Amino acid sequence: MSKKNENPVREPSTWESFYRGGEVESLPWYYPGLDPDFDAELDSRGVRSGEALDLCTGPGTQAAALAERGLSVTATDISRSAIRKAARLATERGLTIVFRQNDIMDNRLEQIFDFVIDRGCYHVFAFEQRQKYVAIVAGLLKPGGILLLKCFSNREGRRDGPQRIAPAEIKRLFSLEFEVESIRHTVFQSASDGPEPKALFSILKKRER
Ligand SMILES: C[S@@+](CC[C@H](N)C(=O)[O-])C[C@H]1O[C@@H](n2cnc3c(N)ncnc32)[C@H](O)[C@@H]1O
Repeated sequence: MSKKNENPVREPSTWESFYRGGEVESLPWYYPGLDPDFDAELDSRGVRSGEALDLCTGPGTQAAALAERGLSVTATDISRSAIRKAARLATERGLTIVFRQNDIMDNRLEQIFDFVIDRGCYHVFAFEQRQKYVAIVAGLLKPGGILLLKCFSNREGRRDGPQRIAPAEIKRLFSLEFEVESIRHTVFQSASDGPEPKALFSILKKRER
């Protein structure tokens, strides 16, 4: 758990270039339905309503699935083109979702939520930014609100891509603001062929104080 051995962090313009051209379906993180780990967790909690923020929504598939589940969804991303394409998906499916272009490191959202969903956002940031992320996301949740966080794990062997996160980091960085309900090893289920990246799935409850 240190700044050593971290992968390079992408510039905001790089994220925009992923979405400006081409089909979102070809992006490595694209998953058409709700991520199975999020789906199972929300099922086990009986969640069919509430206010949810899909942080770093990208193609918007997670936001759309959450809205179809019955939640009131706000979806944000740093990339304007991602937001444009995600909004188009929502329109095609007849869903009402609030979309905002927003850099989470310079957050301009004022609302607070029952749930924050992070599929592949936390792990794009350098260690110092991840420390900042914890305080920002805690500020976006109601007391007792839930953060579902899925990121690359330190068991993933390939070298490139996002940062690798160890369970010890989650415990250390989040424990002040959150109760760490669980941290589980899983994979990023993929819509395409090829090995599925090893992942950590964490359930974090904002402290009530
Ligand atoms: C790995 S993708 C995951 C996208 C989406 N959550 C999904 O599962 O399909 C990471 C996303 O984070 C967005 N992103 C990167 N830095 C960001 C920032 N500072 N603020 C908001 N979004 C950011 C990127 O544009 C990209 O869409």
